[in-house]
Amino acid sequence: MTQDELKQQAALRALDYVVEGAIVGVGTGSTANFFIDGLATIKDRIAGAVASSEVSARRLAGHGIRLFDLNDVEELPVYVDGADEIDASLAMIKGGGGALTREKIVAAVATKFVCICDASKKVDVLGRFPLPVEVIPMARAQVARELASLGGKPVLREGFVTDNGNLILDVHGLQIHDPVKLEVNIDGIVGVVTNGLFAKRGADVLLLATADGVVMLERT
Ligand code: A5P
Repeated sequence: MTQDELKQQAALRALDYVVEGAIVGVGTGSTANFFIDGLATIKDRIAGAVASSEVSARRLAGHGIRLFDLNDVEELPVYVDGADEIDASLAMIKGGGGALTREKIVAAVATKFVCICDASKKVDVLGRFPLPVEVIPMARAQVARELASLGGKPVLREGFVTDNGNLILDVHGLQIHDPVKLEVNIDGIVGVVTNGLFAKRGADVLLLATADGVVMLERT
């Protein structure tokens, strides 16, 4: 089975978590795209969606799924998104697609975060995937110095601007044994908008597609 087929399997399984008549929080990335395409097949059974990026919003709209502004939404029973890495505690690194800030905001509103991944994303220790950090442009150099002092090697994502008009520093060389602590520390650096650790609010459910089928793990 190809990696794309695995991503699709996890994504389609997540349709089971969609609440009838409700608004669905929708993530960003290739796995989330499979979820959006699946959601289109049940679009008459949902009120609509809140997107975590402009690109996901366009894909949802292309399927005729009604889009809601997060500010107009009081309840979001479920948020479905992929991850770049996920550990046994269901803490994640996200932001490979650069949408980390909006993803974290939509996830914060959601009651349940359902993470959809192929098996390659499951790791023992987070950090092999460079940790994305969204920064205010004028703070780029200062934030990079601070991130280096935490032991990482920040690299500017060349030619990339986030949906919010900011930059991304990808931090290489981290071995993240305490993701909650590092998430809090990086958020404390002046000029950081968001970092790609989703540990304080990790996933509640992981749907991990393996060669033997989709395995479901719940946060304990
Ligand atoms: C987008 O900014 C990311 O957080 C994605 O959720 C993550 O990069 C996973 O993407 P894929 O599903 O494309 O691997």
